[in-house]
Amino acid sequence: MAFWSAMAWIPTAVILFCVWTFIECTETQVVCSLSEDCVLQCSFKAAGEEVIHWTFTHKEDPVHAYYHDADHLEHQDQRFKGRTSLFNGLIKAGNASLRLRNSNIQDIGRYHCYTSTNKGNQDSWVNVEVHAPIQSVGIEMMGDEVSCSSQGIYPAPRVSWITDPPTQSDMLKDSTQTSADPGGLYSVQSRVRILGNISDHTYVCSVTSADGTQEWMTSLRQQEINIVNEGSAIIPCIALRTFNLHNFTLTWAFIRVNKSEVILTFDSLTKQTVDQGTSQAKVDPDQVLSGNGSLWLQNTAQAGTYTCSFSAFQIQHLVHTHVKLTPAQNKESDVTRSYWSTIMVFLATAAAVFLLLRRYKCPSSHTQS
Ligand SMILES: *[C@@H]1O[C@H](CO)[C@@H](O)[C@H](O)[C@H]1NC(C)=O
Ligand SMILES: *[C@@H]1O[C@H](CO)[C@@H](O)[C@H](O)[C@H]1NC(C)=O
Ligand SMILES: *[C@@H]1O[C@H](CO)[C@@H](O)[C@H](O)[C@H]1NC(C)=O
Ligand SMILES: *[C@@H]1O[C@H](CO)[C@@H](O)[C@H](O)[C@H]1NC(C)=O
Ligand SMILES: *[C@@H]1O[C@H](CO)[C@@H](O)[C@H](O)[C@H]1NC(C)=O
Repeated sequence: MAFWSAMAWIPTAVILFCVWTFIECTETQVVCSLSEDCVLQCSFKAAGEEVIHWTFTHKEDPVHAYYHDADHLEHQDQRFKGRTSLFNGLIKAGNASLRLRNSNIQDIGRYHCYTSTNKGNQDSWVNVEVHAPIQSVGIEMMGDEVSCSSQGIYPAPRVSWITDPPTQSDMLKDSTQTSADPGGLYSVQSRVRILGNISDHTYVCSVTSADGTQEWMTSLRQQEINIVNEGSAIIPCIALRTFNLHNFTLTWAFIRVNKSEVILTFDSLTKQTVDQGTSQAKVDPDQVLSGNGSLWLQNTAQAGTYTCSFSAFQIQHLVHTHVKLTPAQNKESDVTRSYWSTIMVFLATAAAVFLLLRRYKCPSSHTQS
């Protein structure tokens, strides 16, 4: 018996679901991009003497009114001023949609569209969402921490970290701060502590939008190399294995005081390198296309920080290399000196042997002189 009464719930649930689906028809959802225009859909059966009232359901704030064949904005809520319009030419065809310009976070909410004609009235609702997408993600080294940040996002994004080579996630404790600006947009800053030796890992920060449709990934590696003064050198820079190698730009720069000076850029689509024309700094195009962006410097290595950046759509990999110049003057002149003394000894020996041999072979010439 209990079994059959339980079974009776199934058709009831199905009927309720259908009714629910039907009710939903008068309620639509629209996602607007911040600062852009947005259309809130509403249609009705036109039959003359059309009246349209759009209200923001929270406190029933008037958004836009239309009757006697004209807009009536006297009672419009201040924050919608100058931002709304109907498709006036299409009202007679039953189109009561509202265009909302320059949308902002305060526009989020439920809107009511009331229409009335000679033949009765209709209600429908529109839920408005406003999204501010992630536009960029910055990463930097701050003392013994790596910091990743992004601004002007709505809704608040998520931040996560990994390292390459991987480490246990409990080793990499992040502290993430999310704050909202007066306009309601979120900023996030997340930090992780460096694990052991700084050059041991690449730190990868991912910022993901709340709905998971957008993911930005930025990674940072810091290394140190010694270059013998005035020598030629190769500064290594290898893209992460997960980097998209189909469409990217490689940029090498040198940080002079606070300014970053571009040394060269390489575009993977055109396979062109743009440099300062001195040909003293080069990358190997074939190597770059396979993820090795190492920079070859001919007698131009300087002490300071070189930055290498692989960037593609929503992904960037940075390598900061602190270059130290080892004078090695003494060592080098020692080598030079021993090189020259070897030659001198060799020449002196050769001359002595020559004189000796000549003396034995040509005794006459010796007596003549
Ligand atoms: C009303 O007209 C506008 C402009 O042509 C259009 O974008 C919108 O989809 C129409 N809405 C309805 C409900 O027909
Ligand atoms: C980090 O590693 C480099 C190379 O392996 C080594 O020369 C350096 O001493 C290490 N630094 C620290 C602080 O362990
Ligand atoms: C470099 O930047 C720091 C802080 O951003 C500033 O205090 C300093 O004056 C700058 N130095 C130069 C030479 O511009
Ligand atoms: C990267 O390329 C440079 C030359 O551009 C080469 O010397 C170096 O061995 C390469 N590194 C790897 C890991 O392939
Ligand atoms: C390459 O990526 C850029 C953005 O990083 C994008 O604008 C461009 O359309 C892409 N080109 C191709 C051919 O995929």
